[in-house]
Amino acid sequence: MTEKKKILVVDDEENLRHMLQVLLKKQGYLVEQAPDGAEALTKAREGNYSFILCDIRMPVMDGKSFLTACTKAGVGATVIMMSAYGTVDDAIECMKLGAYDYISKPFNSDEVALVLKKAEERERLKDENRRLREEVGRGSTFSEIITRNARMSEIMQLVKKLSEHKTTVLIQGESGTGKELIARALHNCGSRRQGPFVAVNCGAIPSSLLESELFGHVRGAFTDASYDKVGLFEEANGGTLFLDEIAELPLPLQVKLLRVLQEGEIRRVGGAAATKVDVRVVSATSRDLVQEVANGKFREDLYFRLNVFALFLPPLRARIEDVPLLVEHFLQKYGTLMGKPGVRPSPEALQALVHYRWPGNVRELENCIERGLVLCEGTALGLAALPEVVREEAGLERSLPELPDSLSIKKGAEALERRLIVRALEQTGGNRTHAARLLEISHRALLYKLKEYDLG
Ligand SMILES: Nc1ncnc2c1ncn2[C@@H]1O[C@H](COP(=O)(O)OP(=O)(O)OP(=O)(O)O)[C@@H](O)[C@H]1O
Ligand SMILES: [Mg+2]
Repeated sequence: MTEKKKILVVDDEENLRHMLQVLLKKQGYLVEQAPDGAEALTKAREGNYSFILCDIRMPVMDGKSFLTACTKAGVGATVIMMSAYGTVDDAIECMKLGAYDYISKPFNSDEVALVLKKAEERERLKDENRRLREEVGRGSTFSEIITRNARMSEIMQLVKKLSEHKTTVLIQGESGTGKELIARALHNCGSRRQGPFVAVNCGAIPSSLLESELFGHVRGAFTDASYDKVGLFEEANGGTLFLDEIAELPLPLQVKLLRVLQEGEIRRVGGAAATKVDVRVVSATSRDLVQEVANGKFREDLYFRLNVFALFLPPLRARIEDVPLLVEHFLQKYGTLMGKPGVRPSPEALQALVHYRWPGNVRELENCIERGLVLCEGTALGLAALPEVVREEAGLERSLPELPDSLSIKKGAEALERRLIVRALEQTGGNRTHAARLLEISHRALLYKLKEYDLG
């Protein structure tokens, strides 16, 4: 049995307090009450509540002052406001002061249950993140990965499990989503962390040199080979080899890499003897490898060999809840470096940052904050310190389409489905594998629908 969670209900109306007490008790909470902010504050300081449901207009101490006092007193509970008719603006004000959400009076029991469920889910993720960070919070492991997104948290759990094994892992995701960060976490969390982590960008080394870079060469193997050279595979022995931009690997080398992975031994260029290596291979790509296979650019057998375990990092726009956390993280990081501590985003700037689509993902956000800090004077990062694209796009409403004229559910659903598919393809730059994941349908189902809607 898990322990019952405590809730404090704060309202000057006794009837309402009573109603909530009965309702919340039924849902398994331990409930206490207070008639005004002042009494609530005394209780909240000691009571160790998980949640506080708080009215906005009350005598003695109103909701806003209560919230401010809670923050000052370091009360950890998640506060949800209850706003009566005409106090919605105040409720929004309260959210700026740190309230988690609000419900409008009159509300029904479902609404209360729903908002609490959401809050519980958030608490759970927060706890989980904290726990994961504490568990492996040394050096450059999870402590650098900032997220409160459910999918990302799942990925972090998987990374933790995978780090103990030698399984080959393929990390996919758009540019700047944190693929290298995850690759390093895979290495740093696991039993191989004492060994080396060797990263190679397959797209950055001329293909004529790549083979000897990866596998080494013996003296005299070719004109310039005046000495024996240890390859990156051997360098990574006992540790992890990170093959970044794997889609750029030329076809002839793909054959050789496949053999190395199958046999666990390498042959230096020009050398006859094979050397055993114990290397965990992690690869990454921002391309759609399935598509590359279909186009004959990537060997299918190698794809399956690398893809023993696939991690797909969602683009930042699919986890906007991470934006405020990342903004804070980078403000802190660069603020310290630049001697500008304590800078906070203005509400408008934060809104623009949350609305922007971030085609360059976390890397783009990081650059944007670093640049913003250079420009900003004082302790507020305002709109003016943000790049023009960010400011411009923030104004645009990205609403869903008009409904068709008929009331046919089938037609309406089709119109919506079509739009969602178009949007997913836009967001992934036409990458169908990634789009299918955003849409939470199979790749095959997406291909079928593309045909059906004449989008293919
Ligand atoms: N969740 C995160 N928390 C904190 N920092 C992050 C996070 N994700 C990415 N970053 C930072 O964003 C930058 C880009 O991340 P990284 O280099 O891992 O991305 P990538 O997917 O490898 O990008 P590319 O495809 O362009 O190589 C890095 O500075 C990294 O530290
Ligand atoms: Mg990278």
